[in-house]
Amino acid sequence: MQKITNKLNSVIFMQNVGLRYDKGPEILSDIKMSLKKGSFHFLTGKSGAGKTSLLSMMYLAQKPTRGSVSVFGQNVNFANRDNLAMLRRKIGVVFQDFRLIDHLTAFDNVALPLRISGMDEREVKQRVNEMLEWVGLSRNINSITSTLSGGEQQRVAIARAVINRPELLLADEPTGNVDNDIAFKLMNLFVELNKLGTTVVIATHSEKLISEFNYPRLHLQNKGLRIYYPKDDTGLEKEDEKD
Ligand SMILES: Nc1ncnc2c1ncn2[C@@H]1O[C@H](COP(=O)(O)OP(=O)(O)OP(=O)(O)O)[C@@H](O)[C@H]1O
Ligand SMILES: [Mg+2]
Repeated sequence: MQKITNKLNSVIFMQNVGLRYDKGPEILSDIKMSLKKGSFHFLTGKSGAGKTSLLSMMYLAQKPTRGSVSVFGQNVNFANRDNLAMLRRKIGVVFQDFRLIDHLTAFDNVALPLRISGMDEREVKQRVNEMLEWVGLSRNINSITSTLSGGEQQRVAIARAVINRPELLLADEPTGNVDNDIAFKLMNLFVELNKLGTTVVIATHSEKLISEFNYPRLHLQNKGLRIYYPKDDTGLEKEDEKD
């Protein structure tokens, strides 16, 4: 009963999850987690530990090769294409490699989710301009994205992922290409979004951000996942024993 309750209350629920590519060995094994609505987690682990792979199951690009993954209470193994498309509309993703539409302007990339949702063009214009200004790209609104620097493209990707206030935000090293000041500003954007109810998972290598922002950490090591909570008064990091 406890497990069923967990699954229904969770935005992301994984149990006995294993993932392998083609006929290779499992790169993730026996993953379990239950991320509650409105939670904020960092996702850490060495390069190659499987952060992007874990996120790809969360944004429904990858199905587990064993075990079950539920997103918004829907088991992805039993979801058809329409179900998956509906779930994806609730998720904002910042890809590690950005995946912008290169020949479009920053404005048009960020406007895309709003236009797809049928928003009035005047409101699109206002929202997109505001967002691009907020991430420090007011000078680049009409630049073709392929002409922007890596850090600028990363901020366009972030703006596109958050513009629709998604229910779930998955960001894969979203501050990997920007300096410290901008990284903190972007983190604050994620914090604000979280305060409005968005569930957030941020993959990062930045110990600085992790120690500055006191959120639990999903840590991948040896194909498995452990959850650590922020340091308590004793100064010790506590491992999750609850779920
Ligand atoms: N499409 C794929 N086909 C085959 N193997 C893959 C594929 N994608 C990832 N892998 C392998 O899975 C493992 C985990 O990769 P993943 O990209 O998830 O790691 P990561 O933690 O995101 O690393 P990084 O910090 O460098 O981004 C690696 O050994 C990688 O080579
Ligand atoms: Mg990665």
